[in-house]
Amino acid sequence: MTQPVDMQTTEDVLARYPSDPRHLISVLQDIQLAYRYLPKEAIARVSAALGVPLAKVMAVATFYKAFSLTPRGKKILRVCTGTACHIRGAPLLLTEIEKRLSIKPGDTTQDLEFSLEAVNCVGACALAPVVVVNDTAHGNLSVTKVRRLLKPAEKSTEKEAN
Ligand code: FES
Repeated sequence: MTQPVDMQTTEDVLARYPSDPRHLISVLQDIQLAYRYLPKEAIARVSAALGVPLAKVMAVATFYKAFSLTPRGKKILRVCTGTACHIRGAPLLLTEIEKRLSIKPGDTTQDLEFSLEAVNCVGACALAPVVVVNDTAHGNLSVTKVRRLLKPAEKSTEKEAN
């Protein structure tokens, strides 16, 4: 099931930086951006290339929320479950997304289209309930509106149903 990792991408990132431990976070950020996660093969290669012990690379990779050790979806759905959003229907939105995508918070769809997260207040309470898709906040959502955010992932399912 696991796809082989294209290590050329890692080499391309490493080629942009001097072999110096000070560049660890920048290198990991670029690798995260390229793969949408940090493959273990890439982490091992970064450790060797920058001369940083593997345990330290792993400590950095697991400390920052921006990094993921498992593949993420093209679209990351962050459903705000803060108080304002909770009162205005966030649980219904979350249930709808879970049902439509057959995943729970923390999971990614098998086609790697979507990852789902339940998060605390994202600072847009006036727009509650809010779902952030990658870096874009969608507010005043209803169950109907949230379905539209999922449309690309459902095309194949809808075709099968017809
Ligand atoms: S509680 Fe959801 S944006 Fe503040």
